[in-house]
Amino acid sequence: MNLTIFRPNYRNLVMGVETKVPLINGEQVIAINFDNAASTPPFTSVLEEVVNFCPWYSSIHRGTGYKSQLSSNFYDYSRQIVAHFVNTNLKEKSIIYVKNTTEAINKLSFRLLDESKENVVLSTEMEHHSNDLPWRNKYKIDYVSVDTWGKLDMDDLEAKLKKYNGTVKLVTVTGASNVTGFTNPIHQIATLAHKYGAKILVDGAQLVPHAPIDIKPANSPEHIDFLAFSAHKMYAPFGTGVLIGPRETFIKGIPDYMGGGTIKVVTRHFISWADPPEKDEAGTPNVIGVLALVEAIKVLTRIGMANIERYEQNLTEYALRKLKKIADLEIYGNSKDSKDRVGIISFNLKGLDHQTLATILSQETGIAVRNGCFCAQPYVQKLLKVSEQEIKKHLENPSFPHPGMVRVSFGLYNTYSEVDKLVQILNKIAENKKFYLRKYKDYELSGSWKFNKNQAMPSFK
Ligand code: ALA
Repeated sequence: MNLTIFRPNYRNLVMGVETKVPLINGEQVIAINFDNAASTPPFTSVLEEVVNFCPWYSSIHRGTGYKSQLSSNFYDYSRQIVAHFVNTNLKEKSIIYVKNTTEAINKLSFRLLDESKENVVLSTEMEHHSNDLPWRNKYKIDYVSVDTWGKLDMDDLEAKLKKYNGTVKLVTVTGASNVTGFTNPIHQIATLAHKYGAKILVDGAQLVPHAPIDIKPANSPEHIDFLAFSAHKMYAPFGTGVLIGPRETFIKGIPDYMGGGTIKVVTRHFISWADPPEKDEAGTPNVIGVLALVEAIKVLTRIGMANIERYEQNLTEYALRKLKKIADLEIYGNSKDSKDRVGIISFNLKGLDHQTLATILSQETGIAVRNGCFCAQPYVQKLLKVSEQEIKKHLENPSFPHPGMVRVSFGLYNTYSEVDKLVQILNKIAENKKFYLRKYKDYELSGSWKFNKNQAMPSFK
C-alpha cells in the first residue's frame, strides 16, 4: 500500500520545538516530544497573548476599574468562543471553567448525585482513573467491557443499559483512550444512552485537541449532554479546563466548592445561589488560563480540526507501519488500523521493561515518552493480562517491577522524520538488548529526573 504523505508545517506555531536537551554521552540534541497525551507545549501565540494581556490584567467580576471591566468582559465573552468551538450555545449549555478534566468530572460527580434514588453510572473498562474513581464512592457503578484489542463492546453497552432497566443516570465514556488511542463512537453511544433514559458524559481530554467535536443540539438523539476537556493538552498549559453541560443541571443543587462569586445573596440564615456558571466558579477565576485557551482555540480553528485529525492520522499510520516491522515489539490495541483512533501508540519490547526502555529513549536520543499505566491501571492490566493476584504481589513488594507499557503520543507539530528517529533507535535497541541492559542496569530508574547536587537549577533563559 502506498501512503500519501500529507506534510503540512505546523512546527512554527509551537514553543520549544528546537530546544536542546542533554544525552547520557553529554551531547546536546533537539528534544523530540512524543508525550502530548500528557501535556502539550504552548502555541507561541498563546504566550504572546498572555504577555500582551498582562498589563491589562485585573481581578474579574470584582472591580469597577477599567482593567477590571475589560478583564471581566473578556472572561464572559470567552464562553461564546468555547461554545462555538464545540458547536453549542449558552442558552442550552453552561460552560464552567475548572482546572482540568479531572476537576470537571469530579465536579459533575457531586452535582448529579441524588441521594433519594439508586444512581447507576455506566463507565467503561477503558477509562482514565479520572473517569472512574470519582463515580465509585457515590454511585452504583458498572463497567462496559472492551474486547481483546481494548475496543469498547457496543453490544455490552446495550445489554447493560437493558439490564439496569431505566435506572442508569449517566453513561460516562472517554472520547479517545489515552492508552490505545481508540476513539469511541460517541454519538452512537449518546443515542443508545438516551434511548434508555440516561445522559452521556464524554471525557474529551484526548479527543478535543485532535479531532472536530460537535455536541449537537439537545433535541438531537445523538447530542452529548456533558463534555469535559483540558487546555493543557491543547497548547494552552495555563491551568484551565472546561465542563460543559445543560444549564438546568447546574441551576439545580448546590456547588461542590463554595465561596466568593457563587451567590446572589447570603444572610446568616439563607443562601440564594448565583446563576450558572458563576455558581460553580468559586474564588477569583483564572482569566489568564482562559485567555490562553481562547487563543489556542483560535489557532486550532484557523488550521481546521479536520486537517489536524488528517495529519495526525497520517503520522500514526506511518509510525504503525514502521513500528510493526521491529522484531519483538508488541503493540497494544489494533495496530492494523489507523482509523477510529488518535495519535497514541503503546508498546513493549520483549526482554526490556518499560521503564528501562523509556529511559533509554530519553538518554540515547532525547525522545520523551511516557511509560507505566498512564493513570488507566484497570485498562492496562486487562491489555497486559495481569491478574489481580499479581497486582497484589506488586503492592506487597514495591521493588518488584510494575507492569506497564511505553507510550508515544503525537501532537500536530510532530514530524515523519521524528518518527524515523524513534524507529531507528528502537531497531538498534532491539538488536542490541544485552548491551543496553548492561549499560542501564544500574541507572537510576525512579522515573524522576535527578540533577547533580552541585549543579545549579537551569535558569531557563
Ligand atoms: N492523562 C494524561 C496522560 O495520559 C496525564 O498522560
